[in-house]
Amino acid sequence: MIAYFNGTFLPKSDIAISPDDRGFLLADGLYEVIRSYQGNLFMPEEHIERLNYGARHLRLETTDFTYLVEVAKELLKKNGLQQQDATVYLQVTRGASKRSHCFPDKDTPLTVYATASAFNNPVIQKGMEEGVDVITLADQRWARCDLKTVALTANVLANQQAHEAGVSEAIFIRDGALLEGTHSNFMCVFDDVVVTAPATNYILNGITRQAILAICKELGISVEQRPIFTTEIEKATEAMVIGTTLEITPVVKIDEIAVGSGSPGPITTTLQKAFQTKIAG
Ligand code: PDD
Repeated sequence: MIAYFNGTFLPKSDIAISPDDRGFLLADGLYEVIRSYQGNLFMPEEHIERLNYGARHLRLETTDFTYLVEVAKELLKKNGLQQQDATVYLQVTRGASKRSHCFPDKDTPLTVYATASAFNNPVIQKGMEEGVDVITLADQRWARCDLKTVALTANVLANQQAHEAGVSEAIFIRDGALLEGTHSNFMCVFDDVVVTAPATNYILNGITRQAILAICKELGISVEQRPIFTTEIEKATEAMVIGTTLEITPVVKIDEIAVGSGSPGPITTTLQKAFQTKIAG
C-alpha cells in the first residue's frame, strides 16, 4: 500500500512515526474518513472543512488542509482504487516533541498521514438491507464531540460493549437524550418527521448527516433537530444509524425493543434510494 506521510508518497511499511509523536503520547490530533465510490470522493470539501474547523479549535499551527483533497485523489490512483469503493483515512497530529502537556515550539512540524484502502464490507451491506440492532449506553466522552479527535477510547469501549452484546452499534445517551453512535449519527422518525440531535458540541456533525438533511429538504420530508429523549423512543416508527461507512443503516431494535414494524421503514428506504442517487450523481 502506498501511503502519504509528511509531504511524501511511500510504501506504508516504510513509514516510521516518532514515539514522541503527540498523537501517540497524548492523542493530540484529528482524523477524517472519506468515502470514495468508483474513484469519486464523496463530499471531500466538507470533510476537509471539518478538519480545518477541528484544527482551529485544537489551535494547530496549520488550519488549512485543502491540499489533502489532491493527496486523497493521488492515493486512490497510486493504489489502483479508481474502479472500486474505498475509504481514505487522514490524520493530523501536533507533531513530535518531548512529552509535555503544553504546546511544543511553534516550528514543530505537524504529522500528516493518509492512506486509501478498498472498502467492501458484506456485514455492513447486510445491515443496510435488513437493518441492525443497537444498544444505548451512557455517554462517557468529553464535551467537544464536535471535534473529530483521535482520542477515541470512550467510543472504542462502547463499540466493544455493543459487539459483545451481539449488536452493531451503541448509541450514546447524555442527559436523557440519544445523541449519536460510537462511529455514526442517529436519526429517528416520529409521525413522518425525521428527528436528529442538533449539531452542538455533544455530537459530531456528520457529513452523511448533512447530506441526509439536504435530501430531506429536497424531498419535502420534515426534519426536527432536537434531542431525542429515552422516554419517547418507543414511539419511534423508524430509526437509523448513518455515517461514512454505514451510509444509511436502518435500526430495527433498540435495547431489545423493536422499532416500528421491526423491519426497515418507508422513510428510511426512501432516504437510502435518494442517497444512492446522490452518490451516483
Ligand atoms: N466516524 N459520529 C461519530 C462519533 C463518528 O465517529 C462518525 C464517523 C460520525 C459520522 O460522520 P460522517 O458522516 O462524517 O462519517 C458521527 C468515522 C466513519 C470513523 O470513525 O471511522
